[in-house]
Amino acid sequence: MTETIQGDLYDFPQYYDLLFGSDWQAEFLFMRKCFERYSKREVQRIFEPACGTGRLLIKLAQRGYEVAGNDLNERAVNFCNDRLEKKGFPRTATVGDMADFTVKRKFDAAFNMINTFRHLPTEATAEAHLHCTAAALSKGGLYLLGIHLQPTKGERMESEAWVARRGNLQVNSYMWCKDLDLKKRNEHLGLTIDVYTPTRHLQIQDTMDYRTYTATQMSKLLSRVPEFEIVALHDFRYDIRHSIEITPETEDVVYVLRKR
Ligand SMILES: C[S@@+](CC[C@H](N)C(=O)[O-])C[C@H]1O[C@@H](n2cnc3c(N)ncnc32)[C@H](O)[C@@H]1O
Repeated sequence: MTETIQGDLYDFPQYYDLLFGSDWQAEFLFMRKCFERYSKREVQRIFEPACGTGRLLIKLAQRGYEVAGNDLNERAVNFCNDRLEKKGFPRTATVGDMADFTVKRKFDAAFNMINTFRHLPTEATAEAHLHCTAAALSKGGLYLLGIHLQPTKGERMESEAWVARRGNLQVNSYMWCKDLDLKKRNEHLGLTIDVYTPTRHLQIQDTMDYRTYTATQMSKLLSRVPEFEIVALHDFRYDIRHSIEITPETEDVVYVLRKR
């Protein structure tokens, strides 16, 4: 029998982490290549605004980087810190807002890879986020920002599905656009997460809102944050050899920003 609940995926860090944690390798290698190629300083200390479960932070910590992050969701932060601690690292994730934070010691790089930035609901919070991330970085440090743009020509991606499995636990998720309001710049998404164990089927039904950005809107926003220069553009192939130019059809972009 299926047990159905209305819930927030981020309140279930163990399922979130299984779903998205298995994808870490390509992003991880790509980020390291970006640090080598684009950073003007050696990258040792890395900050992730809205780090969630810290699926990438833990891998970076295991490679010798000093890592920290923040997230609004306390459960995700606890999950992240528990895992860091279990693997011998300090509990450096804190509950905090990515649009309003400061750090005690500056970092060499920051990243925000999978549309998380689009959770920020307004232009003011998006701009505030970019200013405080820039303030958290040393001169020459990098900010890798991955988002889906709203294409102005051609088809847009309307849904995405992920499947992950560990032992007897399988998690399937499906996300689709329920409503797109380009005037209000809001994409309202439906999300179902099916959790299967040998004895149980749980379905979590969730919705979330992502702010929309055309390439022009994104570039206007970035122009109001002179602390950053755009040094390269890549996409969600996470291939350092493949940089892109944004066209009206472009959807996924990783902006490689460098602190001036
Ligand atoms: C798609 S998850 C990404 C988590 C992590 N960055 C990753 O790559 O797996 C989005 C995260 O953003 C967090 N979040 C949303 N709005 C936030 C805000 N204003 N400040 C901090 N965290 C926020 C959510 O709690 C959630 O953990």
